[in-house]
Amino acid sequence: MAEYFIKKGSEYFAARDIFDNKGVLLLGKGQKVTASIENRLRRFGVYEQEVPDNPGSRQSVAIPSCDRQSAMLYETAEELKNRLNIRNERIFRVANDILGNIIFSSREKPWWIYVNALCNYVGWIYTHSINVAIISIMIAAEMGYSEEELSYLGFGALLHDIGKLLVPKSIILRSENLTDAEMSLLRQHCELGLSSLESMSLSRECLDIVAQHHEKLDGSGYPKGLKGDEICQNAKIAMVANVIDENSSSRPYRQALPIDVIVWNLRTEKEKYPQELVAILEKVVGFRHAS
Ligand SMILES: [Fe+2]
Repeated sequence: MAEYFIKKGSEYFAARDIFDNKGVLLLGKGQKVTASIENRLRRFGVYEQEVPDNPGSRQSVAIPSCDRQSAMLYETAEELKNRLNIRNERIFRVANDILGNIIFSSREKPWWIYVNALCNYVGWIYTHSINVAIISIMIAAEMGYSEEELSYLGFGALLHDIGKLLVPKSIILRSENLTDAEMSLLRQHCELGLSSLESMSLSRECLDIVAQHHEKLDGSGYPKGLKGDEICQNAKIAMVANVIDENSSSRPYRQALPIDVIVWNLRTEKEKYPQELVAILEKVVGFRHAS
């Protein structure tokens, strides 16, 4: 892994192109590292350490896993933590570590092309995928899932909307006032995602999340109208996580809802959403009901 910086005199210069979380070039190879850019880089996993042979002086070094996806994971997770006011630091860190490992270990796998494509398709799809994975892992960690089970769940949650890569951007960017035909196409993303991944020998736990995350307990969801325990446990977790992130995030076509309103809606629609999982979500987020 090449270092990110070259030191010349007392100044640092980029040894390679460095991108921000939107994929915009932050610093071109050979350009000088200014104070403001250095602050931003530090948030993305570039930090300072003492120079080994010169105690008291410091140099900037790059964390080996720091690349575009890792930078987005860090920044997206912090935004999610603030937005949901997540107070359970331990479980939040567990979820981040597991998701970081999933992304890192995917680099040499056939599905890496999908992770990259998610990152580049429509602005919020990748951040939404990260958020759903983090919330899902947090819920499951509280339920006592093993590390291996959390990895399967997190991977499926990260890829849950992969089928949207096959839906035209014009439909995804609007997502409201759609014609029946457009809505039908949007809703096909579960099956499109499943067929995209089926040749990759992924576990059933992952594929079921992709296929079932829009089902509802009363059979009113899609694509198959599954009911109750016809929906797998991992898909139920991703279902709740999906509603939380989707509704608490701003979109070009609507405003975000406060977390207490979203939880209240989930609590109200008992026939659709697994209440035991909503209760666990409230616990891991540290949500408190207004008195
Ligand atoms: Fe979806």
